[in-house]
Amino acid sequence: MTPLLETVGLTRHFKVGTGLTRRVLHAVDDVDLTVGEREIVALVGESGSGKSTLARLVAQVHRPTRGEIRYRGEPLTARRGRTARLAYRSDVPMVFQDPFASLNPAHRVAHGILRGLTLHRPELTAAERTAEAERVVEAVGLHPAAEILDRYPHELSGGQRQRIGFAQALAHRPRLILADEPVSMLDVSIRIGLLNVMADLRESEGVSILYITHDIAGARYLSDRIAVMYGGHIVETGPTEEVLARPRHPYTELLLSAVPDPRAPLDVDAAAARTDPPVVIDPVPSCRFRARCPLAVDACHHVTPRLRPVAEGHTAACHVRASGADA
Ligand SMILES: Nc1ncnc2c1ncn2[C@@H]1O[C@H](COP(=O)(O)OP(=O)(O)OP(=O)(O)O)[C@@H](O)[C@H]1O
Ligand code: SF4
Ligand SMILES: [Mg+2]
Repeated sequence: MTPLLETVGLTRHFKVGTGLTRRVLHAVDDVDLTVGEREIVALVGESGSGKSTLARLVAQVHRPTRGEIRYRGEPLTARRGRTARLAYRSDVPMVFQDPFASLNPAHRVAHGILRGLTLHRPELTAAERTAEAERVVEAVGLHPAAEILDRYPHELSGGQRQRIGFAQALAHRPRLILADEPVSMLDVSIRIGLLNVMADLRESEGVSILYITHDIAGARYLSDRIAVMYGGHIVETGPTEEVLARPRHPYTELLLSAVPDPRAPLDVDAAAARTDPPVVIDPVPSCRFRARCPLAVDACHHVTPRLRPVAEGHTAACHVRASGADA
């Protein structure tokens, strides 16, 4: 079946420095990722691994340096014109870490939602827009909707504001929500409520979610599949329970070994206890994890490992653990 979203060799480089010191930062390199219909995929990785850049590429905030994004089997480059671009943005909205980034403090909550409805669903009448605004606010678990819509952002709690971020996205009738660390600024005690909102939205609205997070326990709670990112590459991907029970990439193993209770919150940055960050500026062909890897062999220093199958639906990019022999 054609996946809802597919990236093929997706790559984004940034030029850094000027003149003779100009260099190239490989934020995202050769990423193949799929998200199916009604699927929740967690994208996990430490700070700077390229998660937000990948989401911004999918959201068309950044142009790819190389590679392709396919939506419903069709390359995005085939969608030309303002109407087609608007339709894609409406189908694939982003929800950010800081809900204030998408809420205008000068306006009541209703303003942003109604504006989105006017832009993305011009066929609705004013009465239908109001009804739809109330519906999406209720869909994210906020009641009574009319009262919430009448408030200013500062009159809401952090958790309520982030729910409004999802309500704004829902007003577009999305197919895929790109959720970039949507719970990381919230207290641990209210994160679970937001994770449940996302799980409910998949059921009630039939959306897929690309859930970007540092927290492996949250990824386990919410996602069907997980993709582990390191230094701009996806190094392991597969069904969440399978990958977390039987990690094959040494980096995933390192992350999981840091937590005695697999269901306790685990921040990837803390678990990775960073020593040397991966070299992503003018990198040579190699495994970017080689400096930290206890298993490194000669090939790791001059050949970039590709994702290979290690079990049903489970892939890893490692010369030692995924050589292809045991696929
Ligand atoms: N506009 C830009 N110009 C230059 N470098 C950039 C730009 N955007 C991102 N980068 C670099 O690309 C790399 C990946 O950044 P990105 O923000 O995608 O990481 P991340 O995984 O989302 O990190 P975090 O968990 O901290 O949000 C980093 O080295 C970052 O400094
Ligand atoms: S490719 Fe080599 S350095 Fe990279 S994770 Fe595998 S063994 Fe370690
Ligand atoms: Mg980020």
